[in-house]
Amino acid sequence: MKKKRIGVLISGRGSNMSSLIEACKSPDYPAQISVVISNRPKAAGLEIAAREGIKTLAINHRNYDSRTAFETDLHQALKDAQVELICNAGFLRLLTADFVDKWHDRQLNIHPSLLPSFKGLHTHQRVLDAGVKITGCTVHLVRTDMDAGPIIAQAAVAVEHDDNEQTLAARVLAAEHQLYPHALKMFALGEAYVENETIKVRANTDVASSSKPRAMFSPRVING
Ligand code: GAR
Repeated sequence: MKKKRIGVLISGRGSNMSSLIEACKSPDYPAQISVVISNRPKAAGLEIAAREGIKTLAINHRNYDSRTAFETDLHQALKDAQVELICNAGFLRLLTADFVDKWHDRQLNIHPSLLPSFKGLHTHQRVLDAGVKITGCTVHLVRTDMDAGPIIAQAAVAVEHDDNEQTLAARVLAAEHQLYPHALKMFALGEAYVENETIKVRANTDVASSSKPRAMFSPRVING
């Protein structure tokens, strides 16, 4: 099997990146990580990736006069590593329409809520403030609008009556670590594909059949 070459973009600790690294170790996983790039040179995830023998790069956005100049170097670094798909994994930098268009349908993002609800930062506190009883996480294709784009997969997490921001974030993060490798696999294999700005799942695939992964990630509480 020809594995898809992935570029992972991070800004911090990189725990979602780590879950992708682990998944990619499996010989039958359809993706491999070619490069990990952080816009913050001190991101802890860079060290983790380097220890795994993965090429890492810091492209510090503060060294650039404009977003465009930063993104020109980012784009080139991804090209140099022959990246086919980008996975944003806690990459907390807004990207311009120009960059997003260059990677149209080739850039995934994970967000810690059930999109389209609770876009943006401080998600878990806003979930608690709103009093919703189910939250979760979403892997989607990147579009110009922040935290928007065709949804590849979601996992649901119950909000407990005694949750605080930290306890809720921890349970959603655990779900993220399962969801991202699953969504990337579906997309890399072409089992999930875009049609009219929504994701369709091919018939007769593992995900479309009644096998466990689909049940796990259909809209139900997996952590309640
Ligand atoms: C994750 O919870 C991810 O969903 C979130 O940042 C965290 C990064 O953690 N991303 C966003 O909020 C994007 N809008 P990690 O560095 O340990 O993967």
